[in-house]
Amino acid sequence: MATDLIEALEALEREGVSLIASAADADALEAARIALLGRKEGRLTAIMRNLGTLPAEERPAVGAVANRVKGVLQERLEARAAELEESYAGAAEALDLTLPGRHTWRGARHPVTIVIDEICAVLGSLGFTRVRGPEAETEWHNFTALNTPLDHPAADMHDTFYLAPGILLRSHTSPVQIRTMQQHRPPIRVVAPGMVYRRDPFDASHAPAFEQIEGLAVDEGITFVDLKATVAEFARRIFGPRAEVRFRPSFFPFTEPSAEVDVSCLICGGGGCSACKGTGWIEIMGAGMVDPAVFEAVGYDPDRYTGFAFGMGPARIAMLRYGIPDIRHLYDADLRFLTQFA
Ligand code: PHE
Repeated sequence: MATDLIEALEALEREGVSLIASAADADALEAARIALLGRKEGRLTAIMRNLGTLPAEERPAVGAVANRVKGVLQERLEARAAELEESYAGAAEALDLTLPGRHTWRGARHPVTIVIDEICAVLGSLGFTRVRGPEAETEWHNFTALNTPLDHPAADMHDTFYLAPGILLRSHTSPVQIRTMQQHRPPIRVVAPGMVYRRDPFDASHAPAFEQIEGLAVDEGITFVDLKATVAEFARRIFGPRAEVRFRPSFFPFTEPSAEVDVSCLICGGGGCSACKGTGWIEIMGAGMVDPAVFEAVGYDPDRYTGFAFGMGPARIAMLRYGIPDIRHLYDADLRFLTQFA
């Protein structure tokens, strides 16, 4: 009957209007449009399929209602779409784009850690294994076994932090040489990074706690040539292919002969500048052939084995590389400085 169809159309109008009004976003509105007016499955189409069951003279009245309802729903759909559009624009306006962004902290390795990792990687590729030793050491490992008598100035209370009689904060990483040789037989090739402690004033070039990297190679037949070749290759890999090294005679109780190793100044290329104090060279490490007395202290036969050792300060190398004028920057833990390396 025509009245049934007209009632169905009026119900569609009421429900459709409220469905459209409650559509919260463009997707919901499009879903409502399809449910109401969709050509194949929409409710209007479903109602109008029954039009053919009516006698021909009743059809125009139903058709007129259908057109009106369709017009109302289309109008509401458009109005709601415009409304939603406007509320998005309003939300965008409420954003203050001039507010500073939320800061996210990005972690970074400390510049000295960067240098240590790189040095250990280079030495690792040359066959050196990374090892560690304790920072609280015995006087014997730190001095005596390293052929350093306790009346040596380095062993003095004024230069070394003592924790208890016979126990101290290691003043260099060389005691790791002793611990390694006590635990292993040759051949030995180790690199030992770690903190060391000295009673130095905290000034532009000294820190009371700083890092060192120790290297040790022991085997039958190792000579000074092996030391020079290792250090030269190391310098080229760390400072660049044009870096040259030179050895100056020096003295350490635990090496004989001993040398101080300089690398050609990477800032001026050797011509002389303020970084190298006009000399063209920058000191990077102490080194030498392991003194037979050290082998005796750990029970190695000094007639059978020889070896070389070296020790360097990665903080100084970091200062050189990054142009850091004052060592205290490295230990002040000031994020304004450290985040530059992130
Ligand atoms: N231990 C020495 C220092 O702290 C460096 C060094 C290590 C020298 C190994 C020679 C061999 O100055």
